Amino acid sequence: MKTYRIATIPGDGIGKEVVPAGQQVLEALARSTQNFEFQFENFDWGADYYRQHGVMMPADGLDAIRDKDAILFGSAGDPDVPDHITLWGLRLKICQGLDQYANVRPTRILPGIDGPLKRCKPEDLNWVIVRENSEGEYSGVGGRVHQGHPIEAATDVSILTRAGVERIMRFAFKLAQSRPRKLLTVITKSNAQRHAMVMWDEIALEISKEFPDVKWDKELVDASTARMVNRPATLDTIVATNLHADILSDLAAALAGSLGIAPTGNIDPERRYPSMFEPIHGSAFDIMGKGLANPVGTFWSVVMLLEHLGEFDAAKRVMQAIEAVTSDKSLHTRDLGGAATTAQVTDAVCALIGKTVAHAA
Ligand code: IPM
Ligand code: MG
Repeated sequence: MKTYRIATIPGDGIGKEVVPAGQQVLEALARSTQNFEFQFENFDWGADYYRQHGVMMPADGLDAIRDKDAILFGSAGDPDVPDHITLWGLRLKICQGLDQYANVRPTRILPGIDGPLKRCKPEDLNWVIVRENSEGEYSGVGGRVHQGHPIEAATDVSILTRAGVERIMRFAFKLAQSRPRKLLTVITKSNAQRHAMVMWDEIALEISKEFPDVKWDKELVDASTARMVNRPATLDTIVATNLHADILSDLAAALAGSLGIAPTGNIDPERRYPSMFEPIHGSAFDIMGKGLANPVGTFWSVVMLLEHLGEFDAAKRVMQAIEAVTSDKSLHTRDLGGAATTAQVTDAVCALIGKTVAHAA
């Protein structure tokens, strides 16, 4: 029997509700199989930790999680702590520290979910957004001078490196190649941004030659928002810079029915470090502590975590349980217009997992 060592980092707000729910699902899964077990270690990093210690996580925090097999993360954000502190002090510190350079965001309309697009059939919207996760607009380079004076100036410099673009393009082409339609759309803005985005386009063309069986096209980021709404079926795998993909993935999640459902993986494809899985939603302080959060985004992230560990049978069983639960409107949480609680949805998914049979490894 294999033992997987998992770090759980609930963070702030509803992260503290959905991460334990995700752990419950993994525990239910482990009870139903002889193939593997989990060893969890929980880390109380986040805004509460910041209030006590002045930092979101300890200086040597990365060392505590570096040797784990995977990380399950909740969310970071607090009304009393500036957003750039919660983000840079925890989530980005982990993503960049562990060089999780590929952020993967699958989007589908799950059974039982009504998307807002009238003419879009569920099978028309099946995308994976690949977000460059280590540089670009989030490189953190910049500064402020003359603070508080009329001549104050500030910069946020977006940096793209050849190595960084090559590796994310190669990852995206490979992912597109593994999907039935073998179709990749490269998002760009090289009409307005005439240096880094032009290099981005050039490298996309270079890497495309390694993948002759992948069909690909280029779309300007602004035009791509209209294409997502008007012609969703023309898209499959999408690759974009850090900020472009950040924005497009919220649109994608909304078009698929709810931000509460969307999952994401911060992946180190070379597996030098553990990868980190998390729901795409934020800490949602307005509903925290009420048991109303939708845990499905975390459960789908758990599916991605299991796939990353190579546990494809287990991943499939969790996904089937999720889809059975979304099909049942009485198990919809408030974000989906229902009245179900986090605990009810979690119990239903765990019960379904208990009923399915694990196949031998
Ligand atoms: C995301 C989020 C974060 C981001 C926020 C919480 C800073 O929106 O994961 O998409 O912008 O990266
Ligand atoms: Mg975002």
